[in-house]
Amino acid sequence: MNSAESNIGRPLRIGHERTCACPQNHINCLSAKEWIQHQIAVWEFYYEARDVRDKNVHPATYPIALPSKCISLFSHKGELVLDPFVGVGTTLVAARDLGRNAAGFDLKADYVEFSNKRLNSMPDNGTTQIALCDDAHNIPSYLEEETVALCVTSPPYANLLNRRRQNKSIRGDLRRDEHYLKVQQYSDDPRDLGTMNAEAYAETMGEIFEGILPLLRHKAHCLVNITDYWWEDKRVPAHMHVINALQDVGYELRNIIIWDRRNIVNRAGIFGWPNNYITLSTTFEYIVDFWRP
Ligand SMILES: C[S@@+](CC[C@H](N)C(=O)[O-])C[C@H]1O[C@@H](n2cnc3c(N)ncnc32)[C@H](O)[C@@H]1O
Repeated sequence: MNSAESNIGRPLRIGHERTCACPQNHINCLSAKEWIQHQIAVWEFYYEARDVRDKNVHPATYPIALPSKCISLFSHKGELVLDPFVGVGTTLVAARDLGRNAAGFDLKADYVEFSNKRLNSMPDNGTTQIALCDDAHNIPSYLEEETVALCVTSPPYANLLNRRRQNKSIRGDLRRDEHYLKVQQYSDDPRDLGTMNAEAYAETMGEIFEGILPLLRHKAHCLVNITDYWWEDKRVPAHMHVINALQDVGYELRNIIIWDRRNIVNRAGIFGWPNNYITLSTTFEYIVDFWRP
């Protein structure tokens, strides 16, 4: 049994105190000059060689640069970062890079194993990052109240992936690649948010984040990457559902950030032409920023 398996269901012993010498009232370790570069609410990221982009490994990862930016902005060295839907561990890699402790959870054992292997191949810097295989509902049994400095995550976008992949963002013959018409769902576990329709999804997000709220320090930020999507010719404003669900359980909305993805969407087709105007929804996503008031 490895350490991630032996930790299942048990309180996690993981550091959460600052190890930097920043003044107590600073919200991050950045200088004013560095901070000013983060003032624009439209963010753009590039993937790097370490990013996992193989859809056979995981169908929906974000780039390491995304959690890196959130961690730099909203935590200090040595503090504890939480990702309730950790996938293949992108947030944990960013936390290691930046000297933060971090815990990540995912329902799917393969992803958790992949995450921990990924971390094992990185240089040790005295901080701990760990992925655990469990339902995000159970996170409160692992972490102490008021120890988490930042929650950053990309949950499933409800049942967006639970249908045959059409590759609509790819033009011409290139659409029929190896992923065309495959259903690339994370799992068919009924607890998986990726199996839920919009209503069940919003309710479950509320339940999970209600459990996480007491674990956050006061004024700790919670950033949720989410996108709106089309479902049977109807636009689903998933970011609004997430805002409502989290506000209802006590989070306060601070910022709505746009992740401009135009730099990574290639060869876009012309949707709806010539009788309908449809924007390609993958050209941007939201990073909705809340805090514990
Ligand atoms: C969008 S992916 C996260 C990807 C991650 N940001 C990365 O870069 O690897 C969402 C993840 O949530 C997981 N998931 C879905 N429902 C869950 C639940 N109830 N508890 C924990 N994890 C869940 C899925 O298995 C999936 O890996």
